[in-house]
Amino acid sequence: MRIPLIAGNWKMYKDIDEAVELATSLKNVLKDAQSDKVEVAVCPPYIDLQAVGAVIKGSNIVLGAQNMYAAQEGAFTGEISPLMLRSVGCHYVIIGHSERRQYFCETNETINAKVKMALEYGLFPILCVGEKLDEREKGITNDIVKDHVVGGLKGIPKEKMASIVIAYEPVWAIGTGKTATPDQAQAVHKFIRETIASLYDAATAQSVRIQYGGSVKPDNAKTLMNMPDIDGALVGGAALKADSFEAIVKFYR
Ligand code: 13P
Repeated sequence: MRIPLIAGNWKMYKDIDEAVELATSLKNVLKDAQSDKVEVAVCPPYIDLQAVGAVIKGSNIVLGAQNMYAAQEGAFTGEISPLMLRSVGCHYVIIGHSERRQYFCETNETINAKVKMALEYGLFPILCVGEKLDEREKGITNDIVKDHVVGGLKGIPKEKMASIVIAYEPVWAIGTGKTATPDQAQAVHKFIRETIASLYDAATAQSVRIQYGGSVKPDNAKTLMNMPDIDGALVGGAALKADSFEAIVKFYR
């Protein structure tokens, strides 16, 4: 059984004081989140990781990062390695978010290198895939998503797939208030699972969690999560307030 993963991507929001305050509230309100129904993660900016990690230590919230560089160490000014993320207590790392693809020139190749490095150092990658509005309008959503999935997973052996989460985030739904309908999202999630089955096998495809991301809010979380191939959410804006994130985490109520 796939336990849904609800992860908050805090993006470039929250200084240390704000991050500690939010993490403290989340720790309290999510105390009673049912671990057989949902897994919870927060992915704050790098500079907040240590402080947030200290707050959520021993709670049912796990720590994730929003990016990493694909090297253990070296002369890479401004970058952060998987080893550093491990040392600060990260379990997950978001890789290939559409904002990274769009503003920081990340390609399937650089993203694939990051996925491999993350796995090598014991991190669990959340690999983001998704089409832009013009791509959906051209009817090439599946081609784009397949390209991201195949490119991101290139050379990843089957045994490692248990450590990978895929996040389907249609770019046109991110931060726009325009959510994919549950049927639209389900269709792409099913297609992603079929793509994984063709790359590996049906059992592997059935075991991989595929999150939805893009304007997930308390009022649409439940219907999205009820779709058969949607296994959680990657939440942006609504993850920045304890009450809205709590409501999404507890979608099963
Ligand atoms: P919003 O929930 O703000 O649309 O952001 C989604 C996202 O990009 C999560 O990674």
